Amino acid sequence: MDKFVVNGGTKLSGKVNISGAKNGSLALIPATLLAPGTYNLTNTPNLRDVWTMSRLMTSMGAFIELNDNTLFIDSSNINDYSAPYEHVKKMRASFYVLGPLVARYGEASVSLPGGCAWGPRPIDLHLKVLKKLGAEITNEAGYIKAKSKRLHGCRFHFDISSVGATGNALMAAVLAKGSTILTNAATEPEITHLARMLVKMGSRINGIGTTTIEIEGVDELTPVDFDNIPDRIEAATFMMMAAITNSEIEVCKVNPYHITSIIAKLEQAGCEIDVLSDKITINATKGLEHVDLVTAVYPGIPTDIQPQWTAMMLNGDAPSKVTDNIYKDRFKHVPELVRMGAKIDVVDNSSIITPSKLMGTSVMATDLRAGAAMVTAALVAEGTTEIFKIYHIDRGYEKFEEKLTALGANIRREKTEII
Ligand code: EPU
Repeated sequence: MDKFVVNGGTKLSGKVNISGAKNGSLALIPATLLAPGTYNLTNTPNLRDVWTMSRLMTSMGAFIELNDNTLFIDSSNINDYSAPYEHVKKMRASFYVLGPLVARYGEASVSLPGGCAWGPRPIDLHLKVLKKLGAEITNEAGYIKAKSKRLHGCRFHFDISSVGATGNALMAAVLAKGSTILTNAATEPEITHLARMLVKMGSRINGIGTTTIEIEGVDELTPVDFDNIPDRIEAATFMMMAAITNSEIEVCKVNPYHITSIIAKLEQAGCEIDVLSDKITINATKGLEHVDLVTAVYPGIPTDIQPQWTAMMLNGDAPSKVTDNIYKDRFKHVPELVRMGAKIDVVDNSSIITPSKLMGTSVMATDLRAGAAMVTAALVAEGTTEIFKIYHIDRGYEKFEEKLTALGANIRREKTEII
């Protein structure tokens, strides 16, 4: 096991390059199940979640190799249409293989994901839309079994906008017979980008980037090479780290259009932000003003920045409130921040944050973004913070400590016996 040891109190400066989007790759990789053949997926981040998805693909018969952030996939010999518990329990995104498997191979068996670190994360919408597309779905001993000779087009309205269910629906509908209309579909950049890859493979999709997506199914698709988008959550995390430390940094290789709501919020908090086509400069040297935050579906504020924002507002000039409307129980980071001296009260799905002097201590990363929040807080804590369970952070931040060290942070990775 590894831990991070962070000595707080240093300012950040310089440039950081943003990696490819974790959640982009996790959608693009299963899309290769739709057309047997070879793919080069560039700008793939070298992350634990990508390894987990790759292992799952390998267990199904794919050949996969990651070289310098290019993921080579040969999906010519897929012969096992199942996603076992050992993979799905590690990563819920494994559920993405359900749609493409049933669409291309007529059958799939995918373990139910079970619980999540911060509360219920149902999969009912994934199943409802696949049923509507004609899949016969059963739940056998903890496995979702889906079958269909050929899916057929349908109209489907998502009661709740869901990234994963929209991705699964898209990957299923592109090979269905006839047309499908998805309404209240997710418009997150990772889903829009998945749709673009599907189009490059030969899919007929209209309304990409809008909440109404029309798909005219085709008989077959062809393999492609495809470039991933930058990780908007990683970019935002570094911006919040610059903000909490009252620093100025350049965030490079980013798509600013994907984080307009976050840029606007940071500006409200007193940060000066310059935006170029793929570079953002953030200057927070004048200090942070308190700003309330409410998460929403894209293009609103993503829930995946909520824990880091909470940590950041501990260095604000007055109390503020953060409300998570996507995951109403996503507050596991709060007790850990409180251990560092933070004054935060959780009321329903909101945190009331009072600016606090933080002290280094031992804390843990309870999940990926909670882990990023711990590092964010540790950057300004007095003394040394040890962060345990950083395998969660390794799921989603490529070369995190290397990038932070290059920016001037005092952070190192050490082995620990503590699990
Ligand atoms: N929901 C349902 N039923 C479903 C699916 C979702 O009720 O069948 C609800 C969820 O409970 C939640 C809302 O819909 O309240 C949105 O969940 P969504 O399905 O959009 O989430 P997801 O696809 O499971 C992806 C990201 C998450 C990110 C969420 C929200 C991937 C692999 N994961 O999850 O990323 O938090 O969208 O934007 O794309 C992370 O990177 O740390 C992470 C958790």
